[in-house]
Amino acid sequence: MTMRKGIILAGGSGTRLYPITIGLSKQLIPIYNKPMIYYPISTLMMAGIREICIITTPHDQEQFKRSLGDGSQWGMDFTYVVQPSPDGLAQAYLLAEEFLAGASSAMVLGDNVFFGHGLPDLLAAADEKATGGTVFGYHVADPERYGVVAFDETGKATAIIEKPEVPPSNFAVTGLYFLDNTASERARAVVPSPRGELEITTLLETYLEEGLLDVQTMGRGFAWLDMGTHASMLDAGNFVRTLEERQELQIGSIDEIAFRKGWIDDEALARRAAMFGKNTYGAYLKSLLK
Ligand code: DAU
Repeated sequence: MTMRKGIILAGGSGTRLYPITIGLSKQLIPIYNKPMIYYPISTLMMAGIREICIITTPHDQEQFKRSLGDGSQWGMDFTYVVQPSPDGLAQAYLLAEEFLAGASSAMVLGDNVFFGHGLPDLLAAADEKATGGTVFGYHVADPERYGVVAFDETGKATAIIEKPEVPPSNFAVTGLYFLDNTASERARAVVPSPRGELEITTLLETYLEEGLLDVQTMGRGFAWLDMGTHASMLDAGNFVRTLEERQELQIGSIDEIAFRKGWIDDEALARRAAMFGKNTYGAYLKSLLK
């Protein structure tokens, strides 16, 4: 395993989810029984990442600190950094440069949920790649809402285009980016797009042009949900509820993953469980101790 560090981009104006997000950060809104950000945190944990930089708006940082603390309750280490204004996804690599201190990274958007059998293996393979980067393409019905991959006739990725009017494929690039330690340097060369943002797709294209980007497709056995609208938030919540009730297993339980990875011991898990009293989440954590 490499010494990869994690970044969660959890800022943004949130205007699409008004009035909910007038007083509350989008990434702390409940998705069924957990704050939204638990799901992307759990994705990074499954990749074996314990050091995470959480990027938020200046006015929401306090809420995140209250909700997540310094990460030590899960055997992790959280660093908080603010993004003064939502100037684009690629800016995260500039804001996190000091935190990264020369390490490679895995960045996940704070509103992305990943789920599927074999996810840890997919993440481990991306983590193994020390030079260049890995992103994931996912077949969607509405690619024009996303960064979209263009492929040549051999199936090799040739371009990644942000919100194309005429999508070259149905494969959206998910909000999970494994990049090597040149990402911050490359981000410095990214110029703002017509909509005024430092686009992640522009940064990814620099890797692609040098033949350094793997575009892995996430097959139909995976669920990738992002929560850009009220309806997609409810869909994600229903998805989590359906599986959790059917299986009596939790999705996105940071506590469970930390425990199973051995990052916290029985005593620490019991302390967390006690915090939740008699609610179902607390009961679930207690059941793991048996
Ligand atoms: O979800 C995957 C998609 O995410 C990719 O396919 C696209 O290539 C990528 O640009 C992005 O598209 P979105 O339209 O979802 O980007 P949005 O502006 O909604 O930002 C995604 C999240 O990141 C959102 O929860 C807010 C947060 N954000 C956004 C910007 C622009 C920040 O924290 N800071 C920012 O500067």
